[in-house]
Amino acid sequence: MTKTHDGAARTAHPRLLNWVDEMAKLCEPDRIYWCDGSQAEYDRLCEEMVASSTFVRLNAQKRPNSFLARSHPSDVARVEERTFICSRREEEAGPTNNWKDPGEMKEILTEAFRGSMHGRTLYVIPFSMGPIGSHIAHIGVQLTDSPYVVTNQRIMTRMGQKVLDTLGKDGEFIPCLHSVGAPLEDGERDLPWPCAPRIEDKYIAHFPETREIWSYGSGYGGNALLGKKCLALRIASVMARDEGWLAEHMLILGVEPPPDQQGKKKKQYVTAAFPSACGKTNFAMLIPPTGFEGWKVTTVGDDIAWIKPNKDDGRFYAINPEAGFFGVAPGTSPESNPNAIDTLYANCIFTNCALTDDGDIWWEGLTQEPPEHLIDWKGNDWTPRSGIPAAHPNARFTAPASQCPCIDPEWENPKGVPISAFLFGGRVSKHFPLAFQSYNWEHGVYMAATMGSEATAAAIGQAGMRRDPMAMLPFCGYNMGDYWRHWLRIGRQMVATPPRIFRVNWFRKDEYGRFMWPGYGENMRVLKWIIDRCNHCGAAIESPLGWVPYYDAFDWKGLEFSKDVYAAINNIDTEIARHETNDQEDLFTLFGDHLPQEMELERDLQLARLRHSPPVWDLADAAKLG
Ligand code: OXD
Ligand code: MN
Repeated sequence: MTKTHDGAARTAHPRLLNWVDEMAKLCEPDRIYWCDGSQAEYDRLCEEMVASSTFVRLNAQKRPNSFLARSHPSDVARVEERTFICSRREEEAGPTNNWKDPGEMKEILTEAFRGSMHGRTLYVIPFSMGPIGSHIAHIGVQLTDSPYVVTNQRIMTRMGQKVLDTLGKDGEFIPCLHSVGAPLEDGERDLPWPCAPRIEDKYIAHFPETREIWSYGSGYGGNALLGKKCLALRIASVMARDEGWLAEHMLILGVEPPPDQQGKKKKQYVTAAFPSACGKTNFAMLIPPTGFEGWKVTTVGDDIAWIKPNKDDGRFYAINPEAGFFGVAPGTSPESNPNAIDTLYANCIFTNCALTDDGDIWWEGLTQEPPEHLIDWKGNDWTPRSGIPAAHPNARFTAPASQCPCIDPEWENPKGVPISAFLFGGRVSKHFPLAFQSYNWEHGVYMAATMGSEATAAAIGQAGMRRDPMAMLPFCGYNMGDYWRHWLRIGRQMVATPPRIFRVNWFRKDEYGRFMWPGYGENMRVLKWIIDRCNHCGAAIESPLGWVPYYDAFDWKGLEFSKDVYAAINNIDTEIARHETNDQEDLFTLFGDHLPQEMELERDLQLARLRHSPPVWDLADAAKLG
């Protein structure tokens, strides 16, 4: 039986209407509701969730129009082991993804979704990833039985009637089906956070050939806000391969120097990929340090970049496909990221944060001294003596990007912003320079493909690198070897001026385990050198790994940083680097025929350079010799 369709949103798109009806027949919701994306709709859903205890309304003076949600303790993060790429051939998914035959997965999920929305409303969320109407943007439609997802999607995407208007009668959309997997039978009482609590009942499934997403059993983050990792990275990476663009796990920022003597400002944009938990949001919202008065850093995006070649000027242009930030809360503070803190002043959803006695939120690191009493993320009383974190380590804020004080004026430009450089960074405490530039595009792709972070403290300096090529390991929707080939091709063939490629590493430690580089705003000094390199200045010296900046190539105004320490954070223990380069073979052999030959070639060249270097490549010595 076809249910009645409620809600203000209207469409005459037969394929969309049929699909919604078909999925509603399968999921058997009590009601179908088309989201128009209005403020009134958002407010009403929030009120309903306050009434059902999914949301706690925060103190209206301290945090207007903001809410706290506490998830089920089994549903607190993305579930990579339950994330599947269901391409027709296993080889297409590649060795770094979980694969399942698409027919088999559809059978499993059809049974899981059958009747899964009993007692619930099926919400239809039309959304645009990217400014509506941008030639770089794409439209998705998510069906979900979670009002929490609807409200988050309203912050994270452009959603509602305006998207249906853009779709018209026959526009393309990516169907995204989602259920929390907790049907309510015969008046059964709902939980504040319904989900399928057993991990083996959760499925985050992607069908790259048919460009569909089916997600079952989780209401949290990337598992449930299907525009983000599922569409904007896994499915989009496949579309990008097929259509000649890039869908990347990258922040986008603008760097604007003070005006020159003619009063002109030469602003440039860069993107940067860091594995999760390497301070991407902090870097995207960097505040220039003392000595950089008149410089501005502006944010276009903090997580994802869609990058397309522009035929007119032969450059890449990038948009942020999202409209909000879904940031990790713990560790975000007025010291580490004042711009993020200011973004959160109102209109936000907080998930798994702690609640203060005056109705505001708190998390570890927000203030130096924790409050004397809190309600923790599980809803229990908490004091500093409880001995457990008050907020879950993966607690999140969902915040409108438009509220960010350093949002770039061009962040919604449908053409995107031109990109001058790609940065890649991991966490390496020994042997790896603060910054270096690739010799050329192929070498840069190799540097990005082999990036990673040290797995454990015990593995420091040894072969304990957790590889995360381009920070895309959990997000590439096809064979990673083919993805590298796509990167090689796109830089060579699709643009006349490919961005320069850099590796950065803020995490070098001394022999006492202390960080040697101050990081945060001081990263501006590295950024300025990168911009200088893009402008054909900014001195650098050849090292076995790439072009390393001279001490004098940095602007040191406002920071005391000795030449010796600078040399120490840039020196390369060539023995360790050689081990590390040898180890890359383990990664490369996984891909068999899918590995582009250039990758092995670059590895050989790096080994040769390291073999012919002194045991410690020292910047100061190299500079003397040079
Ligand atoms: C994220 C991630 O949540 O990368 O952005 O894990
Ligand atoms: Mn991310």
